[in-house]
Amino acid sequence: MKKHVVLYKKLSPTLMSRLQQHADVTLIDEPNRDGLARLRAALPHAHGLLGASLKLDAPLLDLAPHLEAVSSVSVGVDNYDLDYLDRRGILLSNTPDVLTETTADTGFALILATARRMVELANMVRTGQWKSNIGPQHFGNDVHGKTLGIIGMGRIGEALAQRGHFGFGMPVLYHSHSPKPAVEARFNAGYRSLEALLQEADFICLTLPLTAETQGLIGARQFALMRPQSIFINISRGKVVDEPALIAALQQGQIRAAGLDVFEREPLPHDSPLLQLNNVVATPHIGSATHETREAMAQCAVDNLLSALAGERPLNLVNPKAWGMRVSG
Ligand code: DGY
Repeated sequence: MKKHVVLYKKLSPTLMSRLQQHADVTLIDEPNRDGLARLRAALPHAHGLLGASLKLDAPLLDLAPHLEAVSSVSVGVDNYDLDYLDRRGILLSNTPDVLTETTADTGFALILATARRMVELANMVRTGQWKSNIGPQHFGNDVHGKTLGIIGMGRIGEALAQRGHFGFGMPVLYHSHSPKPAVEARFNAGYRSLEALLQEADFICLTLPLTAETQGLIGARQFALMRPQSIFINISRGKVVDEPALIAALQQGQIRAAGLDVFEREPLPHDSPLLQLNNVVATPHIGSATHETREAMAQCAVDNLLSALAGERPLNLVNPKAWGMRVSG
């Protein structure tokens, strides 16, 4: 008998038919809104779940007594309670690697957009305010040759360093759990304490995951260490930053600008003070959002889920503890 998969993200027809060859599939659209009741109704039959951008907490997963595997179409796994999944021996997988380059592109787009004031000045043209040659009040700042500071030197951090070092001749500084000699050799990068990086870098880019340790990592004290010409970029998770402190730093001119793809609350409320600030470029969590990359992520997630349901270890297993329970139990 086929296993039952509850899908809470639409797949392309090709991937959908591949999944359907191996499993009975229930698709729940909009699980964050009116789909929630349908999701709850489907969970008691589910052996596998596949989707993204939904907090799967214990009360929800308690409704799924047969659940064997959750396949997240994301690299971030902050929507899942790992201890809970481990306790129940439910395998969690994610989609790293395939999104690395695209997410680094997003980071670099935000670096360029903020430094060169792209959105603000494009709006000036669009709204008919471009009436004479622009002067210093509209000038931006150079990107090439400036110091790129990366907090969290994982795959995406490295891809950002590559762009900065090879493409824009930027000295690269980074902060992570521990120094990474290979990264230093490849990008001529310098390891710094968090405080030193905040004081030295022109662009301060967050590329680290949201965990209990990183939540609220950048707050008022950290913004106070940055220089007035610093530009702050966040492509990781909104909750790594104390958002009111960021708003205050921007309002008080403690930093020059911010490029933000992620927010404490998503979608970003329309009345957020961030949207009142010309020096903020805000994008709707588009880190990996290209046709090519999202399809590659979905394919990776389908592969992970089918492996797990077939009793094999998924390539991108996040919680080996649950796998250990499975093979020993
Ligand atoms: C990821 O893959 O984690 C992206 O941020 C989408 O959530």
